[in-house]
Amino acid sequence: MLDPEGHVTSWNAGAERIKGFGADEIIGKHFSSFYTDEDRTAGVPTNALETARREGKYEAEGWRVRKDGTRFWASVVIDAIKDETGELVGFAKITRDMTEKRASQQALLEAERRFRILVQGVTDYAIFMLDPEGQVANWNAGAQRIKGYAPDEIVGEHFSRFYTEEDREAGVPFRALETARETGRYEAEGWRVRKDGTRFWASVVIDAIKDDAGDIVGFAKVTRDMTEKRETQLRLEESREQLFRSQKMEALGQLTGGLAHDFNNLLTAILGAADLGLRSLGDPERLQRMLDGIRNSAQRGAGITKQLLAFARAQQLETKTIDLRAFLNDVTTLLRPSVRSNIDLVIEMSDHVWSIDSDPGALELALLNLAFNARDAMSEGGTLKISATNELLNGAPDGLRGEHVALRVTDTGEGMRPETMERVFEPFFTTKAYGEGTGLGLSQVFGFAKQSGGALTVESEVGKGSTFTIYLPVSKGMAGATFNGQPHKHGRVLVVEDDVLVAEFAAGMLSELGFDPTVTHSAKEALERLSGEQRPALIFSDIVMPGGISGLELARKVRQRFPELPILLTTGYSEQVAGAHGFPILQKPYELSSLADALSKLLKQEIAAA
Ligand SMILES: Nc1ncnc2c1ncn2[C@@H]1O[C@H](COP(=O)(O)OP(=O)(O)O)[C@@H](O)[C@H]1O
Ligand SMILES: [Mg+2]
Repeated sequence: MLDPEGHVTSWNAGAERIKGFGADEIIGKHFSSFYTDEDRTAGVPTNALETARREGKYEAEGWRVRKDGTRFWASVVIDAIKDETGELVGFAKITRDMTEKRASQQALLEAERRFRILVQGVTDYAIFMLDPEGQVANWNAGAQRIKGYAPDEIVGEHFSRFYTEEDREAGVPFRALETARETGRYEAEGWRVRKDGTRFWASVVIDAIKDDAGDIVGFAKVTRDMTEKRETQLRLEESREQLFRSQKMEALGQLTGGLAHDFNNLLTAILGAADLGLRSLGDPERLQRMLDGIRNSAQRGAGITKQLLAFARAQQLETKTIDLRAFLNDVTTLLRPSVRSNIDLVIEMSDHVWSIDSDPGALELALLNLAFNARDAMSEGGTLKISATNELLNGAPDGLRGEHVALRVTDTGEGMRPETMERVFEPFFTTKAYGEGTGLGLSQVFGFAKQSGGALTVESEVGKGSTFTIYLPVSKGMAGATFNGQPHKHGRVLVVEDDVLVAEFAAGMLSELGFDPTVTHSAKEALERLSGEQRPALIFSDIVMPGGISGLELARKVRQRFPELPILLTTGYSEQVAGAHGFPILQKPYELSSLADALSKLLKQEIAAA
């Protein structure tokens, strides 16, 4: 309590604790001693009492001084106390120490200020807020840089103006906010428009901002200008295509050199046989032999031309499932004429080498590149061996794991010194004379292997030849192919058929066709197997089965979980054949040939009885 002049008349324990004076030290002293010198000089304490006297109450926050001279931030309330006649008898003064509260408030403000400065100053990202309707609420330096608007031009405008007209008409901005509202976040890439009307490729994230009650109070929008990144990527793809094309031209050049020679030989043989034939008109047996010779030579020529055309035509890079046996045969046909006669060309391949998913044009080019190098390394002759083997990798090379096919090109030529070997994959690295090498062959092979999710390795020793190996992952359709066990070249089939006899019969036919059948008698059992063990190459299921899940439902479930796993359904009811909803279906009763046809179509490879 203060008396009407402002002298302390009573003092509680809280006052002692906060201000440090004991009651005996302070009672009778003027309350202005709690104020700072500046405040006293400015007349703050006098004003406070004046106000309380006039208005009955005074409230303020400010610095006050403790007995020991330290300051604290105080919240002060002074009430005027009057007696029943209205005469002022003194003041009740309540002071609270707010130092800590003020400090945390200040810290929060400071953090907010720093954060604002940080966001404001970011120039690589446009970061701004939208109100719940999509109007721009604030704008940072990045937004200004990327989109071209100054804050006062854009705050309050609707964010849809950043979209292209087509997108606006299609309702894209509206859907973006809806998505963010419903799921909390929207992410997309697309064209956006700058203030000057130019477009840029943007990566956009919109986050919904909710208050404690879960109501949306606005959106945070972060936009990045990806134009450059996108262009770099496009250029990279373009240059890869270019490398592929120029490499192909080079390979074609090499091939036609050998082929011209080969064709010359074929034509010589044809002309010779024709000549001899003309002279043997009287000797039907001899004539027959000559005509046969002519036909054989012409057929060989036709075969080579066909390969060459196929190779020249494959312009686009596209992935297909490749059966390596047939594929390597074709490559060899193409290659053989370009390999000098002092080189033995050997192909080694197991009967059960797995299929791979790859771009045939690029793979062919890669093998030709390796073979040309091998040939060039054997000027004195030797053996060029191309082999394909199934390999189970375990972290090497290059961290590869699981089932892979290793394609090896081995020569018995000059080999390489370690310094050369280190650099062979570099683009433009060549040890060949000008005009004989471009140094791009192995770059193509390396790029191809990497892009296919595989690897390329080299082993070599001077004078002992070299081996290049392309590792390629097994075809997705073959995953779970049998390894070293009973070999089945087309992989495992999960048969689902409730009738035991029919199941056995189906399994028998599938074995006949080179598959490894696993029989289950219900969809439920099939699903259990699918989640447990390695995935089969194919599912072959009856539609009508007693109890629980039908074959059609099974097919739908499988497609959802393993979209790449091929499914063939079968039924004896013709009305179901029509209602198979996009799943291939084989009508019962079927026989070996119709089963083989259906499977060939489904797996896009030749399936025939062994
Ligand atoms: N089988 C091989 N035996 C020896 N050296 C090889 C072999 N394959 C590649 N090289 C070396 O690697 C270099 C680069 O090969 P490549 O990229 O195909 O370009 P180029 O064949 O045009 O020189 C060759 O110049 C050669 O020195
Ligand atoms: Mg080369």
